[in-house]
Amino acid sequence: MKEIYTLINKAKLEKRIEELAKQIEKDYDGKEVVLIGILKGSIMFMTQLAKNIKNDVLLDFMDVSSYEGTESTGKIKINKDIRDSIEGKDVIIVEDIIDTGRTLTYLLEYLKQKNPNSIKIATMLSKPSRRVVELAVEYVGFSIEDKFVVGYGLDYNEKYRNLPYIGYIE
Ligand code: IMP
Ligand code: MG
Repeated sequence: MKEIYTLINKAKLEKRIEELAKQIEKDYDGKEVVLIGILKGSIMFMTQLAKNIKNDVLLDFMDVSSYEGTESTGKIKINKDIRDSIEGKDVIIVEDIIDTGRTLTYLLEYLKQKNPNSIKIATMLSKPSRRVVELAVEYVGFSIEDKFVVGYGLDYNEKYRNLPYIGYIE
């Protein structure tokens, strides 16, 4: 077991997620929203966010992975696509963390082809110093330094997803 240092404790994290939920309620003004969670890292953020939005909320999930050796193109492989049509819907992609921005840039273009009415991004964490491709992110929980973080869905070799806070490994 590696030593894990706390970066954002549970209370602070969940309070911030509630704030994002309130912001979404305001922005969508009673309209239905479709949250698309990116597996597996987004699960805890997704549930905490969804529970705090009073609008009608539909949930869907995607599972993606990056192709080996195509870092420069940022092409990603879709292991599991969304189940329901998003045509004409107001969609928010829900992600655990934005690092280089490649995954979300690809996903955004991919999902736009399914003709949603609108599409925005919500991420629990962002590492702005690591960004390779610029993208507009409407809802950011916390911007953090370039540290490897785990917990609240985020893993290190599939472990630590269940930690109820954000920690980092040296
Ligand atoms: P991007 O395409 O570089 O933005 O990749 C983002 C993805 O990399 C996230 O969805 C995470 O799965 C993973 N990732 C990036 N930084 C971390 C980290 O510090 N801890 C755990 N996973 C990370
Ligand atoms: Mg991920």
